[in-house]
Amino acid sequence: MIMSASSFLSLALGCFLLVLAVVPHVAHGLSRGSTLSVSTDTVASTTGICATSVTTLGYQCQEFDVVTQDGYILKVQRIPEGRAGGGGGSGNKQPVLLQHGVLVDGRSWLLNLPEEDLPLILADNGFDVWIANTRGTQFSRRHTSLDPANKDFWNWTWDELATFDLPATFDFIHEQTGKKINYVGHSLGTLTALAALSEGRLVDKMQSAVLLSPIAYISHTTTALVLVMAKDYVGEIAMALGLADDPLPDIFQALCHRPGVDCYDLLVAFTGENCCLNSSTIDLFLKNSPQSTSVKNMVHLSQMVRDGVLAKFNHGYPSPPVYNLSNIPHDLPMFLSYGGNDALSDKSDLQFLLDNLKLHDASKLTVQFIEEYGHADFIMGVNAKDKVFGQVLSFFKSHQ
Ligand SMILES: *[C@@H]1O[C@H](CO)[C@@H](O)[C@H](O)[C@H]1NC(C)=O
Ligand SMILES: *[C@@H]1O[C@H](CO)[C@@H](O)[C@H](O)[C@H]1NC(C)=O
Ligand SMILES: *[C@@H]1O[C@H](CO)[C@@H](O)[C@H](O)[C@H]1NC(C)=O
Repeated sequence: MIMSASSFLSLALGCFLLVLAVVPHVAHGLSRGSTLSVSTDTVASTTGICATSVTTLGYQCQEFDVVTQDGYILKVQRIPEGRAGGGGGSGNKQPVLLQHGVLVDGRSWLLNLPEEDLPLILADNGFDVWIANTRGTQFSRRHTSLDPANKDFWNWTWDELATFDLPATFDFIHEQTGKKINYVGHSLGTLTALAALSEGRLVDKMQSAVLLSPIAYISHTTTALVLVMAKDYVGEIAMALGLADDPLPDIFQALCHRPGVDCYDLLVAFTGENCCLNSSTIDLFLKNSPQSTSVKNMVHLSQMVRDGVLAKFNHGYPSPPVYNLSNIPHDLPMFLSYGGNDALSDKSDLQFLLDNLKLHDASKLTVQFIEEYGHADFIMGVNAKDKVFGQVLSFFKSHQ
């Protein structure tokens, strides 16, 4: 995610609440509306992420379709080398996969100046860079048999991202490169990796992992609207109203475009502050966001807030299976970076995550704390290249 999990999550939830409270008919109309079925395929070649955000800067960029075991067709970008073609022979480069969070897509890594963006920094430093886009986002809104306008397309939570999207993407990159993969996840992109690894997925293909603004336990989140959603069962109410299989941000987008609603103010109001965002970047970000996710995914996140456990989606049976982080291979090199001003990834939840990793080989676990950073600063902060990305580079270089 970009604007940070907290920001988008809370922003979207806030809008969702308002929609439910004030204009339920709008929610219904939109959720079933034809806007959902607009195909991105025909425009992807000129407006896709490579075309808009990479090749114009002088970098090579390729796009691939990755098909998950449950039929979703995901768009993946590859930046195989640096701007000068530099960084060593292409056959020898180590692959890095960047996984965004919820309500954003792969473009969220590419919104600052080129010398400030993580994918381009990695490419210029000799890495073979891959960018994931999870199901439901603009360029990954396709399926071998389901129609995105049909609610069956939206029947999933981050359980499926961990079970299907990430493994499919890892398999594809491994087939293409023959190499183990270095991983960078932000926000929900940390949760899905931790969950997948704890179930023995990805472990044979992952070289090392960077987790920015990690979320695994979120019961101390201070984001007001997330708390309201969790405590008042808003998602469950939406499910009861038959909205649960609709893509949430379509509702959100509609609200943002209503007269008198300023989504930037909403963003600030619902996310708490980020210290270090450039206003041009925020504008670009808001144009590209929020990206769609399922209401069921939001319900799953609110279950985590309520229950304080890291478990699969609770369908209402006594208790769903737990993801046990002790199962993550203890020698996997990991770098965690978290902020002191992060409304979603709270410090005490992070401490609990670290407790759950206490069996991890201490020499393989690096933890960075940045007091002033909020959730989105880790991706889009104007000084992230100095505060965070430099450390990410050294970490990767020392674990190949
Ligand atoms: C969603 O998928 C699950 C299986 O993962 C299935 O049991 C359930 O009936 C589906 N729900 C809807 C509304 O189709
Ligand atoms: C903010 O973004 C604008 C537009 O990309 C750029 O001209 C400016 O230098 C940026 N400021 C900083 C501090 O990066
Ligand atoms: C997780 O696994 C560890 C090691 O196998 C075990 O000791 C621990 O009890 C498990 N935790 C949970 C919550 O199941």
